[in-house]
Parts: sequence; structure tokens; C-alpha cells
Amino acid sequence: MHTITRVTCLLGIGLLTSMSVAAAVAESASIATQAFERGRALFLDNCAECHQSNGRGLKGIYPSLAGSEVVRGSGADVALQLIIGRGEMPSFSGAMTPQDMADVINYVRNAWGNEGDAIDAGAIERLLD
Ligand code: HEC
Repeated sequence: MHTITRVTCLLGIGLLTSMSVAAAVAESASIATQAFERGRALFLDNCAECHQSNGRGLKGIYPSLAGSEVVRGSGADVALQLIIGRGEMPSFSGAMTPQDMADVINYVRNAWGNEGDAIDAGAIERLLD
């Protein structure tokens, strides 16, 4: 009888632990989804007029960000383009917070088949210094 109670108890603890791990994973996934959605909104507001909402730009005028070597290369390189500007592209350092820049960079680096690891606002702040 005692053994059965103990086993039931251990099973219960195991179940609770895996439930809270699952909850934590789901929570961090939803935070990542929220940041991605924020990045998408920032992209549509600030970048899509030139690079287009599908990220493919306009041939000969605005480069495609989908499949771009620069975009896929490193988040810091994209951040420098946003901070400094380039050619016809304005600087966004006055218009966007470091968090905005991080979100939009993580979006373009992971939209349209691109894959890149995330950059955070702290890394952008260090580049701004
Ligand atoms: C007014 C139009 C315009 C806007 C708005 C704009 N860009 Fe650009 N972007 C350009 C042009 C033009 C270039 C190419 C500059 C050059 O090489 O001379 C470029 C280049 C880039 C590149 C380099 C791509 C490559 O493969 O070389 C990245 C990355 C980029 N833009 C990201 C962004 C992001 C992110 C935003 C929004 C925060 C944005 N741009 C907003 C016009 C724009």
C-alpha cells in the first residue's frame, strides 16, 4: 500500500515537472512569436516601401533581402546598415530604438526562407556607442 502511494506520488511529481517544463517552453515560444510579429510590423512600416512586403525588393533599384548574403551573414552587419544607412537607404538610428532594430533584424533574418540567429538590443546599443 505504502509503495503504491509512493509510486503514485513520484508519478505525480514527474508529471507536474514535465508540465511546468512544457509551460516554460510554450511561454518562451510565444515570446519569440511576439517578437517576430513586432519585427514584421516594423518591417512593413519602415522597410517594405522599398524592399517590398515579400522582401524581394525591386530589381535594379532595391535589393532583395530574401536570400541576401548580407542579411543571412550576421545580425551585426545588418544593424550597421540600419545605423549608418547606405546609398539611398536612410539611417534608422534616430527613428528606431535598439529593441526595434533588434526585432526588425531578427525578422528579416528569419523571414522568406532566411535563417539566422537572433541579435538582442544590448548588442545594438554597443554598436551605437
Ligand atoms: C528608401 C528606401 C529604403 C528603405 C525605406 C529601406 N531600405 Fe534597405 N536598402 C535600400 C537600398 C537602395 C539599398 C542598397 C544600397 C546600396 O547598396 O547602395 C538597401 C540595402 C539594404 C540592405 C543590404 C542588402 C544587401 O544584400 O546588400 C539591408 C540588409 C537593408 N537594406 C535592410 C533594410 C531594412 C531592415 C529596412 C527597414 C528598417 C530598410 N532596409 C529600409 C533602400 C531602402
